[in-house]
Amino acid sequence: MVLRDFFIGLSQNELLNSAAKRYGLKLGAQSVVAGTNIPEVIESIRELNAHGISCTVDNLGEFVNSREEATEAKNQILELIDAIHESGVDAHISLKPSQLGLDIDREFCHDNLREIVARAYEYNMHINIDMEDYARLQPSFDLLEALSQDYNNVGTVIQAYFFRAEEDIKKFKDYRLRIVKGAYKEPAEVAYQDKADIDQNFIQLIEYHLLNGKFTSIATHDHNVINHVKQFVKNNNIPNEKFEFQMLYGFRKDLQLELAREGYNFTTYVPFGNDWYGYFMRRLAERPQNLNLVVKQVFNK
Ligand code: FDA
Repeated sequence: MVLRDFFIGLSQNELLNSAAKRYGLKLGAQSVVAGTNIPEVIESIRELNAHGISCTVDNLGEFVNSREEATEAKNQILELIDAIHESGVDAHISLKPSQLGLDIDREFCHDNLREIVARAYEYNMHINIDMEDYARLQPSFDLLEALSQDYNNVGTVIQAYFFRAEEDIKKFKDYRLRIVKGAYKEPAEVAYQDKADIDQNFIQLIEYHLLNGKFTSIATHDHNVINHVKQFVKNNNIPNEKFEFQMLYGFRKDLQLELAREGYNFTTYVPFGNDWYGYFMRRLAERPQNLNLVVKQVFNK
């Protein structure tokens, strides 16, 4: 817990974030971030596609404080959408509302996001609104609801550590949803703190959406949850077209390949870009053993 708080604290350090951006991919982040530019990430997607794995691509970006930065992020994502379409790779987009100006002006963020969703809609490409911390939860759901009045290619994430997750999943059952445990540090007033409680809620939410929802992305590296889901879909005759497993790029690669080989739909979350620092620190917070990646990287040079 102490290490988790330590790395979450680091992930929120804006000064370290901007220093990290200047120095390119370092500290072992290369093994969990698929390159710094569009041609590199398209190449990484192609390699995963060759193994029957689809991708959701995140053009990394955090601490967006100005309209210029948010507009730049929007333009980069539009360029990425065009590149995915033109190259013909099997991939869709994951993005964070804060990157598009949520903390600056909600209307401005909505307009940026609408432009992205509209472009992707032309190509029949899905857009996933990643969920950030509690303060941004309701504003992100509001964006989803506003956009889904005109577009059906947008979905979001339900974080199992929130008490309100059960209510949210019922409300948004007709959406394509990714279900996760939750990656941020949240107070006891709004979120379960105990791993066992989070895991239990995670399973309940997954089962609910598998039975009642549109399409379920089960995003976890936890083999116990994955094995439970395999058995649950079998017992309830839930067809493979109704769900997929998702994992992050660079984690449990053998298990990713194995699930794809077994015939399950599988999507890898592929982050890329210079702004890798916050993403990488959250991964260390989840599993300090991920520091092994850093050590390996240093010694492989
Ligand atoms: P957890 O970290 O709880 O691990 C459970 C067990 O699994 C471990 O004890 C270990 O036995 C095994 N295990 C885990 N990782 C392993 C590894 N690398 N090697 C070997 N064994 C391992 N969060 C969020 O708040 N908003 C979001 O939008 C998203 N989006 C998202 C997309 C995708 C595709 C994923 C996979 C995750 C997210 N997350 C997220 C992050 C998520 O909330 C969560 O923090 C992490 O996935 C960590 O939780 P896990 O369920 O993976 O297992």
